[in-house]
Amino acid sequence: MLVARDVARLESAAESVGSRAVPIPCDVADAQLLPGLVSEVMGRCGSLDVLVNNAGVHHRGSMLHQSPDALAEMVSANLTAPIVLTRLVADVMGPGGRIVNVASIAGKIPVPGSATYSGTKAGLRFWALVAAEDLAERGIGLATVNPGPVLSDFHRTQWQDVSPISASQPWSTPERIAEAVMVAVRSSKSPMEVDVPYLSGKLATAAYAVPSVRVLRPLMQWRGQRALRRIAAQRAHDAEGV
Ligand SMILES: NC(=O)c1ccc[n+]([C@@H]2O[C@H](COP(=O)([O-])OP(=O)(O)OC[C@H]3O[C@@H](n4cnc5c(N)ncnc54)[C@H](OP(=O)(O)O)[C@@H]3O)[C@@H](O)[C@H]2O)c1
Repeated sequence: MLVARDVARLESAAESVGSRAVPIPCDVADAQLLPGLVSEVMGRCGSLDVLVNNAGVHHRGSMLHQSPDALAEMVSANLTAPIVLTRLVADVMGPGGRIVNVASIAGKIPVPGSATYSGTKAGLRFWALVAAEDLAERGIGLATVNPGPVLSDFHRTQWQDVSPISASQPWSTPERIAEAVMVAVRSSKSPMEVDVPYLSGKLATAAYAVPSVRVLRPLMQWRGQRALRRIAAQRAHDAEGV
């Protein structure tokens, strides 16, 4: 079962997965729709073994320049939806079930220009650490995958707004993140956290725990600006080729 709002893109994603993939259009930021979504999945499948909370939105820039609706949308999609869906799914998922949240390395260290996004992802990580104890009572496991920058649509369309600090880290492909999600699905560890790339996760933890490590920030900004210039040149080159 694949869930998203854009019906055309959802159907094409389901087609690329195969004939057993079922697209279900739903806006997960609307918590009122979530009980119906879980009922629909149960009605079609009869059981639910794995939930991947992947939907996320990131409106970049100073939060003072964001509309209240844009700020609320980030909280609803990135934080409320995974919490409420987990709560609903826990009632229908049997022992051995697995829930995987896609958070972010931006939830391990505050990222400039991403106050609300970083806050939702940090909140999701912390929530999972405690919720895993509650879910253990029912034999359900909970894992969190924290990607660094990923060359997904997220960045294909808005890469100009990506903060140099984020861009300074090695970029992953969506396939690499999907692999990490599958490792988290197959593991029996709970709570579990997977950083992709591993070293970016460790650097974020060190910079959060030992503020003096942040003297590296100008160097990272310089590296990130260089990476963004490279992406700009590649985009211009691709556009000329079209
Ligand atoms: N790209 C990165 O650099 C990066 C880094 C760290 C973490 N992440 C996290 O990785 C996850 C996937 O991001 P991505 O990079 O693949 O972004 P993306 O290309 O923009 O995809 C986001 C997906 O979420 C769906 N979505 C967004 N809001 C939704 C809503 N209200 N209801 C239902 N579906 C919704 C979108 O579909 P519709 O628009 O059709 O609804 C889309 O399929 C997110 O949680 C993101 O925060 C991404």
